[in-house]
Amino acid sequence: MAKSEKKHYRCDACGAQFAKWSGQCAECSAWNQLVESAARPAQHMRHAHYAGVSQSSGICNLADVQAASTQRLATGLTELDRVLGGGLVPGSVILIGGNPGIGKSTLLLQALAALAGHLSTLYVSGEESAQQISLRAQRLNLAREKLHLLTETCVEHILEQVQKSQPKVLVMDSIQTFFTDTLQSAPGSVAQVRESAARLVQYAKHTNTSVFLVGHVTKEGALAGPRVLEHMVDTVLYFEGEVGSQLRLVRAIKNRFGAVNELGVFAMTGEGLREISNPSALFLSPHEQPVPGSTVLVTREGTRPLLVEIQALVDQSAAGGSCRITLGSDQNRLSMLLAVLHKHGGIGMFDQDVFLNIVGGVRVSEPAADLAVLLAVLSSYRDVPLSRDLVIFGEVGLAGELRPVPNGQERLHEAARHGFRQAVIPKSNAPKEPIHGLQVDAVSRITEAISAVGIG
Ligand code: TYD
Ligand code: MG
Repeated sequence: MAKSEKKHYRCDACGAQFAKWSGQCAECSAWNQLVESAARPAQHMRHAHYAGVSQSSGICNLADVQAASTQRLATGLTELDRVLGGGLVPGSVILIGGNPGIGKSTLLLQALAALAGHLSTLYVSGEESAQQISLRAQRLNLAREKLHLLTETCVEHILEQVQKSQPKVLVMDSIQTFFTDTLQSAPGSVAQVRESAARLVQYAKHTNTSVFLVGHVTKEGALAGPRVLEHMVDTVLYFEGEVGSQLRLVRAIKNRFGAVNELGVFAMTGEGLREISNPSALFLSPHEQPVPGSTVLVTREGTRPLLVEIQALVDQSAAGGSCRITLGSDQNRLSMLLAVLHKHGGIGMFDQDVFLNIVGGVRVSEPAADLAVLLAVLSSYRDVPLSRDLVIFGEVGLAGELRPVPNGQERLHEAARHGFRQAVIPKSNAPKEPIHGLQVDAVSRITEAISAVGIG
């Protein structure tokens, strides 16, 4: 083996390198952090090992750089184009993570089939046989004659083939199954995943090829999975949604070419993933009658507002302490809101269990959900339903004040478009001009919001 490919062990926690493996890092004392890595001469490292540039160009003035607007490629799925930031950027590397069986291979096969119509593509599978993939393509009614497939797991062999056929778009399914000859550890180990991905990123940047890397998220939070690659790629997309339900959400966690948190909505059907291009009202559950504990929030995921129903259930706790359980939102945030409600609203729930659910399996993490959560909880506690025509948004501060949220106007217009007639929002988000059909209560404290909805 060439001297340049000599192996080292590197501490994942502090980056120190050692010639031998040991259980504890001698530098930072962390346990079980040493992983095998291929040491390369500095010369080699300099050439875009992780960096997204293919060659050094010397110091330049930004104004002199020709920022040619790159032509984006349409993937045939507008929801996927949306999360990518308006289509696929040539030369970009995209990581798609998600639980096994959620639909990663299906999505990429569909996208590749559309792209194959006008440029050369290659699907590399280390997981499934050619028959399986061909069968799936047939089931999805895709034009199979344009799709090219390679079943192989050695990265060096793959790159050899790829250099011959020079595809413009490459799908690698999945990164955990590939290995590089330079390391001895098993495929799927942190070292292999990172090294294989580094080779592919390097290839993508040198040749301006777009590469999709599929990564399975493991139950343990995926140390050896996609997480270790997030910093190396341009875009990170994660599948949300439960395997049991039809709904599939693809969220951009990181995107060098578009808005982060952008959400693409799909339904898994018998014929593959179908786009849901107007998902606004998807996350509302149909109630015949207004029910206590339910509020409608206008959230904004990426660049588009979504109407989402929040459900709360407040119930007397059994002796021995109360619990706070959330699905789709942050539990600590709920505890904080309950404390604010007690301190500034005078309503305590120490002896109550509080459950919170965001309908439809979507995750809402923005603080703009605070007021809707708080009023849903209070509505359940008082057992008084809120009007079905009401939408709510606003961040709640620790002093009991309501803080403005970004894009308030847009949220209000979306609510009005869906027939909502009343909105309770922070004062600073009050619209400058009235919105047709929508009565807006712009308030500055939680106590005013509580009176505005009539559950004080
Ligand atoms: P898949 O794309 O193989 O998941 P991943 O690559 O993320 O592991 O999707 C597999 C699941 O999707 C499987 O449970 C079957 C389901 N499915 C459908 O419901 N309809 C279809 O048309 C296809 C192709 C798959
Ligand atoms: Mg798969």
